[in-house]
Amino acid sequence: MNPGLSGFEGVRAEVRDLAGEMVRLRRDFHRHPEPGFEEVGTAAKVAEWLEGCGGYQIRTGVAKTGVVADLIGRDPSGPLVALRADMDALRIQEQNEGIDYASENPGVMHACGHDAHTAILLGVARVLADNRDALKGGVRLIFQPAEEGPGGAEPMIREGVLRDPKPVAIFGLHVWSLLPVGDLALGEGPIMAYTDELQIRIRGKGGHGAMPQETIDPIVAASHLIVELQSVVSRSVDPLDSAVLSIGKIRGGSIMNAIADEVILEGTQRSFLPETQALLKRRLDDLGRGLDKTFGTQTEVTVIERYPATVNDPEMTRLASSVAEELLGPGHVQTGLRLMGGEDMSFYLREVPGCFFFIGAGNAAKGISSPHHNPGFNLDEDSFVLGAELLLRLVERFVL
Ligand code: NI
Repeated sequence: MNPGLSGFEGVRAEVRDLAGEMVRLRRDFHRHPEPGFEEVGTAAKVAEWLEGCGGYQIRTGVAKTGVVADLIGRDPSGPLVALRADMDALRIQEQNEGIDYASENPGVMHACGHDAHTAILLGVARVLADNRDALKGGVRLIFQPAEEGPGGAEPMIREGVLRDPKPVAIFGLHVWSLLPVGDLALGEGPIMAYTDELQIRIRGKGGHGAMPQETIDPIVAASHLIVELQSVVSRSVDPLDSAVLSIGKIRGGSIMNAIADEVILEGTQRSFLPETQALLKRRLDDLGRGLDKTFGTQTEVTVIERYPATVNDPEMTRLASSVAEELLGPGHVQTGLRLMGGEDMSFYLREVPGCFFFIGAGNAAKGISSPHHNPGFNLDEDSFVLGAELLLRLVERFVL
């Protein structure tokens, strides 16, 4: 790390010159959104742009639709730093009117800003390629599929994106419409949660609704269980820690005058610490067994682990924070970020020290304030230059 260096000559001006190109790319991705592992057109455009930048060793088809590009500077044995963007869209029907780049793919929409992440990283790619001779190490750009699910990071890592050589650091950003453009939020340690899916199957014994004594009613049992679940976070989890247990779906029964055979509950559980994740699982099993004892049901609890907690390295976070403050000015960097959402950036951060941060992309004056995953989601494209410059300034701490 060379924090004393002043940075790429003229980078600022170059990034600003690329603002229009980044907006054009983002709108193109926005107009042609593709869901997880189907980012074929997006990946082709990414590869084409990188090809046009020159100097990149490009691998396509990584974890189906991912693209990885290495730019090696004048010293191939120097450190390698990785930057990651996600490319996938959501299965949401866009409801933005009055923009000429609205989704042309029915039922699919960039409603989380991954179009912006890809465009920003392509802007960064161009500046890096133009300054390749100044690099003493290398930069690896990771464009991954399927962040929204089922997850592209893990298969990309299995296919070697963190090897040969292993990056010394990794950074990624998320645009955030609930944060004003010009601000940034980050945090040390776990900033996003373990996201586990719950499936609870309660088997009873169906029968006539007027003769409950002959049945085992799983709907009554499920009702008790849902109430009991509320005690897990409030009574078992340390109040200074955080967790969520939410049941989002109940399925059971088919007719009003019959008692159902079984009920299936589905939900999500969130936690920041591995011990809390284990505690939640244990309590769910306990409650399931208790339910069976009380009601004579047979309850099966399945917890499917999706993404681990996103844990930022303290040193990398302090570095990102100081770089951001330099760029955005005092008062524009919020520390202590924590969200119960999940992110598969977490998989890279388990292997390589790094930082994932949120850059403001909301703008109340322009009417841009819809939450993410909303059919009316949009973002302030003025955030692109800031995002690109932040990533470049982070890179230069390692490889200039
Ligand atoms: Ni997202």
